[in-house]
Amino acid sequence: MNVLFLDQTGQLGGAELSLLDLSQSFSKGSSVALFQDGPFRERLEEAGVRVEVIHNSVQPSTKDSGILKGMLSFFSAFPLIRQISKRAKSYDCLYANTQKAFIFGAVASLISRRPIVYHLRDILSTDYLSQTNLSVVTWFANRCATIVIANSEATEKAFIKAGGNAQKVKVVYKGFNPNDYTRNDQSRKILREQLGVSDRFVIGQFSRLSPWKGQHILLEALKSTSDSTVALFVGAALFGEDEYASQLEQQVQVLGLGDRVKFLGFRSDVAELMQACDAIAHTSVTPEPFGRVIVEAMFSRRPVIATAAGGAIELIEPDKTGWLTEPGNAEDLTKAIHSIQQDAMVSDSIVQAAYAQAFDRFHIDSTNRQIAMILNTIESTP
Ligand code: UDP
Ligand code: GLC
Repeated sequence: MNVLFLDQTGQLGGAELSLLDLSQSFSKGSSVALFQDGPFRERLEEAGVRVEVIHNSVQPSTKDSGILKGMLSFFSAFPLIRQISKRAKSYDCLYANTQKAFIFGAVASLISRRPIVYHLRDILSTDYLSQTNLSVVTWFANRCATIVIANSEATEKAFIKAGGNAQKVKVVYKGFNPNDYTRNDQSRKILREQLGVSDRFVIGQFSRLSPWKGQHILLEALKSTSDSTVALFVGAALFGEDEYASQLEQQVQVLGLGDRVKFLGFRSDVAELMQACDAIAHTSVTPEPFGRVIVEAMFSRRPVIATAAGGAIELIEPDKTGWLTEPGNAEDLTKAIHSIQQDAMVSDSIVQAAYAQAFDRFHIDSTNRQIAMILNTIESTP
C-alpha cells in the first residue's frame, strides 16, 4: 500500500521521530509531505524516505484564536489543500501525523476520494486547545477519518470525551528498537568526562524546552538534593518557547545552581546521553499524551521518574518499573530522587523489570505490525 504521510512541522518533536521510524517500514512508493522545512526533512532523506515540503501559506492560529481568525486561517489553507489533494491521487491512502495536517488532509481526502488515517498524538482537551479547535478536530475526525490511531489510552479517552466516535479509535503504542539503546560503559565514561560530571549523580531531563514539559520543577527539586547531584537538560525550544528558555537560565541563577545544571540544547545522541545519566526525570505538568522519553529511559536501563498523568501512567507501574510523582510537585520529585540514590539494589531491580516490560510492550516490530494490519483493513474496505 502506498501511503502519503502528512506532518505540519519540519522540527524534530516526538511525533516526528515516531513518524521517522514508521515511514521506514512502508513501501518505497510511500512518501512524506511536510508543511514546513527543517531538520525532520533531512533525517527522513538520510533514512531513504521520500519526502517533499509543500509550501505553507496558512495563517498561524493559536490556542486563543477566535472563530474568525480560525476561518481566515482555514481559507488561507486552500492552496495547501489543493496541493495535498493533487498528490493524494497517486497514493492509496493519506496518513495524518499531526492535528493541522489532519484538518487539511481531511478536506483533501474528500476532494481526492482517498481514505485518511489520523494518528492522534495529542490529548484533545482545553488544557492545550481552544474549545473551537477541539470541536473542529473531532468533527473532522468523526466525518472524514477512516480510523483514528491513538498513541495511548489517555489520548483515546480524551478523544471520546471531546465528542470523538469511540468506534473509530484504536490504541497503538509507540515502538522502539531495543538495539538502539544498548549499554556501553566506555562511551558512558567518556561522555561523563567530557561533560565534567564523572563523580556526580546525574539526572537527565530529555525534552524540548516548554513550560508544560516542566523543566522548572526539576530545577526546584534539585535545590533540595545533595551538592553532588546535577541535572542535564537535553532539548531545545523547538516551537518558539524562547522566553521559557531564558526564564530557566534565570531560575538557575536565582537558585544558585550554576555549577549543577547543564543545558545541552537539541542532541541527536539521546541514547548515549541516557547511558551517561544515573536517573532520568520526566516532569510534564500537564498530562503527557505518551512520552517517548519514558520508554527510552526504560530501554536504556536507567531509573525513570515520571509525572503521574496522561499516557505516563500506562507506561510506568510505580515501585515496579519506575517512580511516579505528582505533576508540578517538586518536593515529590526530590523524594523520588532520594529514594533512587539511597537504595541501589531496589533501583537496580526496578530498572531490570522496566527493561523487560519495555521489550514486551513497546517493541518496534509489534507497533509496525499493528499499524500494517490496520491499514490492510482499509485497503479491503471498498
Ligand atoms: N529528543 C531528541 N533530542 C533532544 C531532546 C529530545 O532527540 O535534544 C527526543 C527524545 O529522545 C524523544 C523525543 O525527542 O524521543 C520527544 O518525544 P516525547 O514523546 O517525549 O515528547 P514530545 O516532544 O513529542 O511532546
Ligand atoms: C506527541 C506527544 C508525545 C508523544 C509523541 C509520539 O508529540 O506530545 O507525548 O510521545 O507525540 O506519539
